[in-house]
Amino acid sequence: MTTPKTSLTGIKPTATPHLGNYLGAIRPALRLAEQYRTIYFIADYHALTTLRDPQALQGYIYDVAATWLACGLDPERTIFFRQSQVIEVFELAWILACLFGTGHLLRGHSYKDAIAKGQKDPNAGITFYPILMAADILLYDTHVVPVGKDQKQHLEVARDLAGRFNHHFGPTLVVPEPLIGEAPLVPGTDGTKMSKSKGNTIPLFAPPKQLRKLIMSIKTGSEGLDDPKDPDRSTVWQLCRQLAPEAAGPMAEKLRRGVGYGWGHAKQDFFEALDAELGPMRERFEALRGDEAQLDETLAAGAAKARPIAQATMARVREAVGIRRPPCPPKETLRLKKSGGGG
Ligand code: ADP
Ligand code: TRP
Repeated sequence: MTTPKTSLTGIKPTATPHLGNYLGAIRPALRLAEQYRTIYFIADYHALTTLRDPQALQGYIYDVAATWLACGLDPERTIFFRQSQVIEVFELAWILACLFGTGHLLRGHSYKDAIAKGQKDPNAGITFYPILMAADILLYDTHVVPVGKDQKQHLEVARDLAGRFNHHFGPTLVVPEPLIGEAPLVPGTDGTKMSKSKGNTIPLFAPPKQLRKLIMSIKTGSEGLDDPKDPDRSTVWQLCRQLAPEAAGPMAEKLRRGVGYGWGHAKQDFFEALDAELGPMRERFEALRGDEAQLDETLAAGAAKARPIAQATMARVREAVGIRRPPCPPKETLRLKKSGGGG
């Protein structure tokens, strides 16, 4: 039997996952577990580049962990952990940083986006972001990285760095490939791409009352109750087609016919179909989210599996760059030598 290739991705815990994250990132990544050795982690140190609220960070970490588990991540099969629990990543990040031009970083997405958002002096973590992400990837001998289009440039940095390292120090690191999702973009309540920065998201596990309220707020055309309506140009139908496909056919027919079927009816039908679809997962989410100690345990068990892979990579990397670390003498010897000096 051949060893399966490794698929790895990081999830930044800066918001509670929404329907776009589910279709665009969570579901496709989970499907890869059938084909690949999967290593998925919560990129908590990456979150610190923008988040300075310890309570919120803790909450998002548990939200993300419980969400992925509720959506079907099997921690026996997928190595699932907190980035911060495998600190070798910082050692590798430093070594990689020494191979990369600062100018490259200043042309990177993370830095340029911060400038575009009006930041005068983005913090060094934002600038350094792509290097830490490259270290995340290269530390685990990753073959493929499932990410959205927005992360393509970061993947290029990781590939570039693996290439540079191997060129200077001999073949040591696996050069990863991006696996850019094919899933269509999920629209938000205003009809544009669902995104936390736009305030148009529908949280994946919103309680039914909130879910209904958000669905009722979806922007629609101004056609009257009896006017024929074009499903293809409606956000409600697009969402229904992507998230509750069985209900989409009948809804399209009723919208086209018009007669007695307004946007309010379409939204109610979508709410019911989506609520039925998400209900069982939401129940699992609530049970998981309610037990933070158990989530800590699951993530720590994942870190215990991830660390030996990271340590093996670091042993190769240190040897390649010429950093030898003879073992430190035991504490006892140190104390003896010191006190022995005085006779
Ligand atoms: P946001 O835009 O809300 O900040 P993130 O950038 O944190 O979302 O998204 C993480 C991943 O989730 C993205 O790389 C992408 O794969 C997926 N994703 C986010 N929003 C959408 C969307 N509206 N449609 C499809 N996929 C999405
Ligand atoms: N930058 C990614 C995002 O914002 C999160 C991330 C951190 C990541 N490290 C990674 C993704 C390693 C893939 C591989 O979505």
